[in-house]
Amino acid sequence: MAGQFQKHKLGAAGIGGMLGLSMCITLFFPSFDFRSGDSTWVGLDKTLSNGRVIGFSYEDPLVRGAGKPITVVLNKDPKTGEAIDPPIRAYVYDAGAPLSAGVRHPTNMGPTVGKLSIEKGKIDQANDDDPVVFTIEATDIDGEEWHYVSNATVNNGWTAEAVLNTAGAESQYLIGRGKTVYITEGCWWCHTLLPEHTQDWQVFGTPPFLGDFNGEMPTAFGSDRKAPDLLHVAARNSSKEWMTMHFFNPRLVQPNSIMPRFDYLWGKTDANGKAIDFSKWRAEYNDYVSGKTVHPPEVPEYAPESEARALIDWVLMSLR
Ligand code: HEC
Repeated sequence: MAGQFQKHKLGAAGIGGMLGLSMCITLFFPSFDFRSGDSTWVGLDKTLSNGRVIGFSYEDPLVRGAGKPITVVLNKDPKTGEAIDPPIRAYVYDAGAPLSAGVRHPTNMGPTVGKLSIEKGKIDQANDDDPVVFTIEATDIDGEEWHYVSNATVNNGWTAEAVLNTAGAESQYLIGRGKTVYITEGCWWCHTLLPEHTQDWQVFGTPPFLGDFNGEMPTAFGSDRKAPDLLHVAARNSSKEWMTMHFFNPRLVQPNSIMPRFDYLWGKTDANGKAIDFSKWRAEYNDYVSGKTVHPPEVPEYAPESEARALIDWVLMSLR
């Protein structure tokens, strides 16, 4: 009897010791810190185009898409009028739009990129109260190319207004607002944004780099895949027409799709300000499904202020 009790005591001490050891590892050897790695161009593009993201409350004005930056594609210097070839992205923050995590906390972008963004980029001269434009610049350190964030309002004299005017409405994208739509609509319930290091990437494209995530919050990887990975979806399908039909009603392009329709993201009116008659649309669609008509009804063109527009901007411009 006494011998057996001894064995239990030994086992208990062993388990206690192992728990203690694993706790020590957790506490004293933190090996994984995003900030110890430097941000890539992809990471900088995401932090600048998403703007600030906080919380997940539906009352949160940021989650409702307010205070978000506008990403523009520029093919001309807004100040000198000189051509920019190839065109670049600029990120316009209106007065009052909260700056992104990367700009607020440069250490989030990694030691080298954070330092470059302050010293060369002068991002510490930007604040929430004044309009500001950012760009991503490249520089060479010992033969290696680095990207950093530049405050183009200070460095190039580009005002937010001039950048928006030069780009024109057709080159402005509501990427940051679109990403919040992805989160609030729960697209991540079915989709992932993370091709894995397996044969996965033959179908869904290359897995991301660690530096692609500096300052991104939330990353929205998704944990369970019931539908295709979307990280590079625009690289395999860049058709705005297809996206428009598929979001309005996925059954228009995939007859057996399990994806819900997101027609309500169109709002009340179409691009011409005309009220969208959803019940009429669905009645016509049912006629098409039952074979009474040959063609499905036309999908309304989304209004520039609609959530549908923001979501499609994000899909086509960010997921490449
Ligand atoms: C119930 C699961 C489900 C939800 C929720 C869902 N999807 Fe999908 N999605 C699918 C499936 C399944 C497909 C494959 C094509 C199809 O069946 O329509 C798909 C296809 C897509 C594609 C095309 C993918 C490709 O490889 O070409 C895009 C883009 C997309 N979804 C975006 C979204 C977005 C954005 C949301 C949220 C607004 C969303 N999905 C919500 C299931 C879902």
